[in-house]
Amino acid sequence: MPDLPSPIVEIEDPALVQAGVRIWLKRDDLIHPHISGNKWRKLKYNIAKAKEKGNTTLLTFGGAYSNHLAATAAAGLEYGFKTIGIVRGERPPVLNPTLRFLLDCGMQLHFVSRKDYREKSPEHWLEVLALDRATTCVLPEGGSNCLALKGCAELPGEVEQQLGFLPDVFFAACGTGATLAGIAAGLKGRSRAMGVSVLKGDFHRKDVSALLRHCDESAVNWEVLTDYHFGGYARFDDRLISFINAFRARHRIRLDPIYTGKLLFAVFDQVRSGAFPEGTDILVLHSGGLQGIAGFNERFGDLIAE
Ligand SMILES: Cc1ncc(COP(=O)(O)O)c(C=O)c1O
Repeated sequence: MPDLPSPIVEIEDPALVQAGVRIWLKRDDLIHPHISGNKWRKLKYNIAKAKEKGNTTLLTFGGAYSNHLAATAAAGLEYGFKTIGIVRGERPPVLNPTLRFLLDCGMQLHFVSRKDYREKSPEHWLEVLALDRATTCVLPEGGSNCLALKGCAELPGEVEQQLGFLPDVFFAACGTGATLAGIAAGLKGRSRAMGVSVLKGDFHRKDVSALLRHCDESAVNWEVLTDYHFGGYARFDDRLISFINAFRARHRIRLDPIYTGKLLFAVFDQVRSGAFPEGTDILVLHSGGLQGIAGFNERFGDLIAE
């Protein structure tokens, strides 16, 4: 069972002392060995609703290293759903650790071309796979729907209760932007929500606004930093890798190179550049994603210390 509330630890670092700010790390990576981070917050109400409706199958979508597919596969096993994953791209000759994990959890995998993945609707896959609409719960890529926002919106209240105060700034990594949207909705403008985009481009402001509108949520006082993608999704350089390994050595906390490494890099960079006045309390969400490290290391040659 997922273990909430996840602990909050203060990060101690000379750079923070010098800037006079405090960083609190919300350890959502510790929620569950396999359904961790924002993944659990996004799945929680979706699973409850699927159970309520009598659904027996979860159908969802993701890339070959997807944290969301891994969490959904594990959730299926734990909560008694059959799981089906539509995986972007051809089946690789040798399966990576994420794909092996999905199969170990019993997830049925369908590898589809990037074009089909992009263009075909969930309806198409329900039909092609002859799935019963009444018993299949369709989760979008990243699990990013309104129930996901609802789960993420609980985060600020949980943090406030644990710390006894509401930090001035909440930071989260942005993929689809649903986690940030949920946090911003939960904050209701009482603190600032800042997302760090891990993809190249300037579309997050639009995406997050659209998500909020679609889910009938209102939020103010949020923004997305777009300069910390390191070249794009899953791109990296030596600075990022060194930062992740140094963070691990100093704080004994693992970060993944796709999301949380870029997030913490951005937070420290912002702090060093004087973006926050003295006395600022910053909450950073450790959104998990650690399952991806093994595949990353297998692909790029053990760059991240395990
Ligand atoms: C570990 C991790 N952190 C952050 C994110 C970003 O979440 P969102 O897609 O809600 O922006 C994701 C997934 O996309 C993730 O897997």
